[in-house]
Amino acid sequence: MKKKLIEVALPLDAINKASAREKAIRHGHPSTLHLWWARRPLAAARAVIFAQMVDDPSAHPDLFPTEKKQEKERQRLFRIIEELVEWENTTNETVLQQARDEIWQSWRRACAENADHPRAKELFDRQKLPAFHDPFAGGGSLPLEAQRLGLEAYASDLNPVAVLICKAMIEIPPKFAGKPPVNPEARKEKSLIAREWKGAQGLAEDVRYYGQWMRDEAEKRIGHLYPKVAVTAEMAKERPDLKPYVGQKLTVIAWLWARTVKSSNPAFAQVDVPLASTFMLSTKEGKEAYVEPVIENGRYRFTVKLGKAKDAEAAKNGTKLSRGANFQCVMSKTPLAPQYIKDEGKAGRMGARLMAIVAEGERGRVYLSPTPEMEAVALTAAPTWKPETPLPADMRSHWTPPYGLTTYGDLFTPRQLVALTTFSDLVQEACERVKRDALAAGLSDDRKPLHDGGTAAYAYADAVGVYLGFVVSSLSDRMTTICTWDAGGPTWGTKTRSTFARQAIPMSWDFAEVNPLSTQSGSLENSLDYTAKGVVCAGIVRGCALQADAGTQATSRDRVISTDPPYYDNIGYADLSDFFYIWLRRSLQSVFPDLFATLAVPKAEELVATPYRHGSKEKAETFFLDGMTQAMHRLAEQAHPAFPVTVYYAFKQSETEREGTTSTGWETFLDAVIRAGFALSGTWPVRTELANKISMGTNILASSIVLVCRPRAAAAPTATRREFVSALKAELPVALAHLQRGNIAPVDLAQAAIGPGMAVYTRYAKVLDAEGKPLTVREALALINQTLDEALAEQEGDFDADSRWALTWFEQSGFAEGEYGVAEQLSKSKNTSVAGMVEAGILESKRGKVRLLKPQELPDDWDPATDPRLTAWEIVHHLIRVLASGGEGAAAELVAKLGARAEIARELAYRLYTLCERKKRAAEALAYNGLVQSWPEIARLAREDGKPRAEQGGLFADAEE
Ligand SMILES: C[S@@+](CC[C@H](N)C(=O)[O-])C[C@H]1O[C@@H](n2cnc3c(N)ncnc32)[C@H](O)[C@@H]1O
Repeated sequence: MKKKLIEVALPLDAINKASAREKAIRHGHPSTLHLWWARRPLAAARAVIFAQMVDDPSAHPDLFPTEKKQEKERQRLFRIIEELVEWENTTNETVLQQARDEIWQSWRRACAENADHPRAKELFDRQKLPAFHDPFAGGGSLPLEAQRLGLEAYASDLNPVAVLICKAMIEIPPKFAGKPPVNPEARKEKSLIAREWKGAQGLAEDVRYYGQWMRDEAEKRIGHLYPKVAVTAEMAKERPDLKPYVGQKLTVIAWLWARTVKSSNPAFAQVDVPLASTFMLSTKEGKEAYVEPVIENGRYRFTVKLGKAKDAEAAKNGTKLSRGANFQCVMSKTPLAPQYIKDEGKAGRMGARLMAIVAEGERGRVYLSPTPEMEAVALTAAPTWKPETPLPADMRSHWTPPYGLTTYGDLFTPRQLVALTTFSDLVQEACERVKRDALAAGLSDDRKPLHDGGTAAYAYADAVGVYLGFVVSSLSDRMTTICTWDAGGPTWGTKTRSTFARQAIPMSWDFAEVNPLSTQSGSLENSLDYTAKGVVCAGIVRGCALQADAGTQATSRDRVISTDPPYYDNIGYADLSDFFYIWLRRSLQSVFPDLFATLAVPKAEELVATPYRHGSKEKAETFFLDGMTQAMHRLAEQAHPAFPVTVYYAFKQSETEREGTTSTGWETFLDAVIRAGFALSGTWPVRTELANKISMGTNILASSIVLVCRPRAAAAPTATRREFVSALKAELPVALAHLQRGNIAPVDLAQAAIGPGMAVYTRYAKVLDAEGKPLTVREALALINQTLDEALAEQEGDFDADSRWALTWFEQSGFAEGEYGVAEQLSKSKNTSVAGMVEAGILESKRGKVRLLKPQELPDDWDPATDPRLTAWEIVHHLIRVLASGGEGAAAELVAKLGARAEIARELAYRLYTLCERKKRAAEALAYNGLVQSWPEIARLAREDGKPRAEQGGLFADAEE
């Protein structure tokens, strides 16, 4: 089968930059539909699927007979990817269509070439692209992007919450694409109904309308539990800032509570004392506010003060003594030890006291002291339903059970339970309304429900219900006693945190109970806004989400596969998602009875190495690796033969910090993929952090690696170690050159070069060492790295003598001073001289000491045209100087003057980067990395402005051809 672009080269830098940028985008990103942990950036997903579907030009020597022509075509495809990954182009039909056309073109070629295939009719229909499948679909980024690229998309996951998210992303919107909304308000408005409703706009509009109806209806039913707070003259006595509000009723944004236990001091045994981890309400400069406990008559009360606290430490620490559950009694200062607090919690004696009220003022937030009425109203809430599902006994991700909060229901106040059950009931009522309005709007009375393939009024009501269910479920993330108050900082404001501020449910001591009926963050309106903005329609092609175990699924048969499996024990999806499942099940069980058949999320087959579930760390790891090998085996067996399979391997943060990308986890994963019957043809490091933010000391190279795999030929031969090494030596330098021409960032080079190296290793059934023992993945990786080093060192031969000397000197001394004698001796072996290099302008030699000049010390008026002794070293460092002072434009002017000679500078920059990385010289490494990363832009500018001249071969030749 023909090689695909991803098996040869990728514009990785553009993909990584776009992925990093995407992280900051919230509004209009499909991820705002509902939380899912560790989502892939859409930019990376889109680029990877595109590159695994289009041919590499080398696959068509008839069309691109020379290496040069192939490179030119590759660059053309790169430009398409560079546009494709931009966030602004996510819905740009021109850009997307261009990509789809390329996919079709490669597909038609594949069909023509495989006309004689025994299964040609099923596999190579030139009128129909193969469908896409992701068997670990999670939040659905990969199938969504496949759909955008024009492929029918299948998403499967073991987890019903993930399946529902995928349904909402890829299955439901195309069914109702282009339809106008059915709600009476929109239908009343003639202009609205007559306008064009593109994609999921009509659906989103209905979600907004019925969501707003839910909110208004909820206000009628439970508004009394969320009263406004009246500001009285009495309150303003001590707080002059409240004077303008006297007589007014302000909407509460949040009630701030502290959990309590009985004091451990016998003198105050009847007092419920607060466990407050802080008394700070706002730390914003000029807006400081805090809570002060006032002790009187053997009891205490809270009062809110404005300004900086006299005792800043006390205000900051609340009643907390130190990390963990270490507090003190507010009355007596007696310590409250962790075990005591746990015992109190387990005995059901943990309560809560209102500490402060945050209300909406005309000019920002108003902090008020608690009132007895406000405390009392919360206590009147009487929930009729409470989720009894137990929290898992996994202390790494669920911290509350030791304190007596052992079920999901325990994470909510009674008022929160009343509100959430009311909202959940309203989802069903809203569905009834949608149904009625849809029939009135003329949708057919076909009663087939959504889960049974319906597309008429009843199914549409189900569809709107799914998104409304998400509104409630997302809201539950903001409405627990785990949500804390963030007092902000000197320059940023206050806010409430969500339950899943991290991938765990931690214990909290003081918490913020938001008002879901306000308009602020954490309210229903806010959740509705995010959900509605996440309703997107990635295409009109069909999408299908289903629940399946990746170890046994048969959905991958003859499909294009890209997938992002769970990684070891990084995230316990099933345990975490039970939190949402309980609310979604309550709201949507009738819409998807099969998906919500079980009381909790199925766990047994989940491929996560969770020691608590499997008995020990070892057993958990064995379960994970065996299961992953099995799942990969399903893919190797079933995938469409024309396309490689792409698999994301995510690094665990702690792993990269400890071991870099040569960790044992990575090796074991590679091993599992190979044992499953795959050969590798690429390993691409994909990052969501910008390279210039990467800290060299910690050696974090990539957040994940995309493995490109093909099923290994059944008749793969066995090789000796020697044969393996000589194949590496022959093939790696060529692959390296491809990568460098693809302008891979130096930080990514070593990782990306593992792909071609592994391609050689996995081409064989086995590689045997001198004793006849098979070479392990670890040994193969070591040999690949060694050959890569040699290939890079060989490139040194292309540099001039002065630069070769400077490289060796720099490796030892950097820009620091060294002995003249040593320098002179070294210069002999490199066939140059210290005096000559001083003359060349790269070296300073004074009083028996020698040192290389730093870029900023080089002369500003340097002109390569008049330099009698031009060296690659000078070119690199002048370019760094000019790039720093004048940006890419100025560097381009210099490159235009240098012409073909500039290309050697890029090679040297790669070499220098590798060297600095090894020596942990962070600042210099970043400068070299930066130069390489800016290279395409500099070259482009140089081409435009530099009036290309005849001698400008090399750098510009391909583009001009
Ligand atoms: C890394 S996540 C996928 C994230 C996804 N690519 C995204 O962008 O949102 C891995 C997924 O594998 C799922 N999973 C775990 N074990 C599974 C199994 N045995 N079969 C199918 N899916 C499984 C988890 O539920 C989780 O959603």
